[in-house]
Amino acid sequence: MWYKTRNAIIRFFYTKLLKPVLFLFDPEDVHDLMSSVGVLLGKFGLTRWKTRLLFDYKNSVLSQKILGINFENPIGLSAGFDKDINLTDIIPSVGFGFEEVGSVTARPYAGNPRPRLWRLPNTKSLAVWYGLKNQGVEVLSKRLAGKIHRFPIGVNVAFTNCKENLDVSLATRDYVTAFMAMEKYANYLTVNLSCPNTSGGMPFLLPENYDNLMTEIDKIETNKPIFVKISPDMSHVDVDKFLEITGKHRVNGIVCSNLTKNTNPDDVKDDMPPHGGLSGKLVFPKALSLLSHMYKKVGNKYVFVFVGGVFSADDAYKAVRHGASLIELITGMIFEGPQLISEINQGLVERMKRDGFKNISEVVGVDNIG
Ligand SMILES: Cc1cc2nc3c(=O)[nH]c(=O)nc-3n(C[C@H](O)[C@H](O)[C@H](O)COP(=O)(O)O)c2cc1C
Repeated sequence: MWYKTRNAIIRFFYTKLLKPVLFLFDPEDVHDLMSSVGVLLGKFGLTRWKTRLLFDYKNSVLSQKILGINFENPIGLSAGFDKDINLTDIIPSVGFGFEEVGSVTARPYAGNPRPRLWRLPNTKSLAVWYGLKNQGVEVLSKRLAGKIHRFPIGVNVAFTNCKENLDVSLATRDYVTAFMAMEKYANYLTVNLSCPNTSGGMPFLLPENYDNLMTEIDKIETNKPIFVKISPDMSHVDVDKFLEITGKHRVNGIVCSNLTKNTNPDDVKDDMPPHGGLSGKLVFPKALSLLSHMYKKVGNKYVFVFVGGVFSADDAYKAVRHGASLIELITGMIFEGPQLISEINQGLVERMKRDGFKNISEVVGVDNIG
C-alpha cells in the first residue's frame, strides 16, 4: 500500500509539475541535465539510498536466473539512454533490474549534427537521430572496468558510424573490435543489428552480412551470453530467415526491438522531424507481433528481451505472456516518470497473484504455448 501511495505522489509531481517544465526545453539538453543529476546521485551511498527510498520495489517472485545471471526484477533500462556508461551507479536505485549500456563502438563518434532528438507527445514517441554517438571502446572499457556491478550490465555493441564502414567487411571488423574490448566487463553482450540512423542504413539485417558477422563473432573466445537486437520493421518472412541464420551461430537471446522507421501519418500524430527512427507506442504492436511469431516458432530456445513502447504493467505483462523473459524501456519512463519502473514491477506481482503464478519465469510465453 505504501508503495502505491508513494508512486502516486511521484507520478503526480512528475506528470503535472516537472514534465510540463522539462518539455519546454530541448530534449537532448534535458537528457544531459538529468544524466548529470544521476551521476551526482550515484556518487554517494547516502544519495543512492535516498533515491532507493523514492523508487525501489523488491519482491522475490520477480527474480530469475537467466543464462547464469541473477536478475532481481525483469525491467531494464534499454540501450541509448546511458550511451557513455555514466549512470550504472544510480540506475539500480531507480528500481531497474538491469541495464544495457551503449551502443558502444570501436571508435568514438560525436553523433549526427543537432538537433537529433525530438518529442512527439501526441504519438507518445521520441524521434531519435543520434547515429550511434558514443566515446568509443578505449574510454568506455576503462570506465566500465572501474565500476562495481550493482546489477547485471549488458553492453550493446555496434559498428562505428563512419564512411569507411560503408564497406561491410570493415564494419564487421569494427563490431568484433568493440565486442572484444567490452566483453570482459559485461554480464552479456548485445550485437545491435538495427540502428536506423547510420549513414549506411542497416546492412547487417541482410542475411548474408548477418551470417558473416556472426561467423566472426563465433570465433571470439567468450563465455558471456550473446544477444542480437532486431528491427521492428522486419516482416515475418524476414524474421524467419533471420532465425534460420541465428540457429547456426552462438546466439543466446534476441532483443526485440529497436526504433521504427514507420512514419505513416495514420500512426504518427505529430509533425515528423526531418530525420530519425521512432520509439515508444508505435513500436509496441510491431515488436509484440514479432516476439509472438518468434516464440511460436522457437519457444524458449532463445531468451527474448522485449523493448518498444512499454508504458505500463499491462504492456509488460502482455510481453512476458507472449514470450519475453526480460523487458527494457526508455520512452515510457520519459512520458510517465521514473516511478514507472516500480509501478510496473508491482503491477506484475499483482497480475501474477491474480493468475496464480509463483515466479515471473512461469509466465513467460503462456499465451503462445500451443
Ligand atoms: C534517445 C534514444 C537513443 C537510443 N540509442 C540507441 C542505441 O544507441 N542503441 C540501441 O540499440 N538502441 C537505441 N535506442 C533504442 C532503444 O534502446 C529502444 O530499442 C527503443 O527506444 C524502443 O524502446 P522504448 O519505446 O521503450 O524507448 C535509443 C532510443 C532512444 C529513445
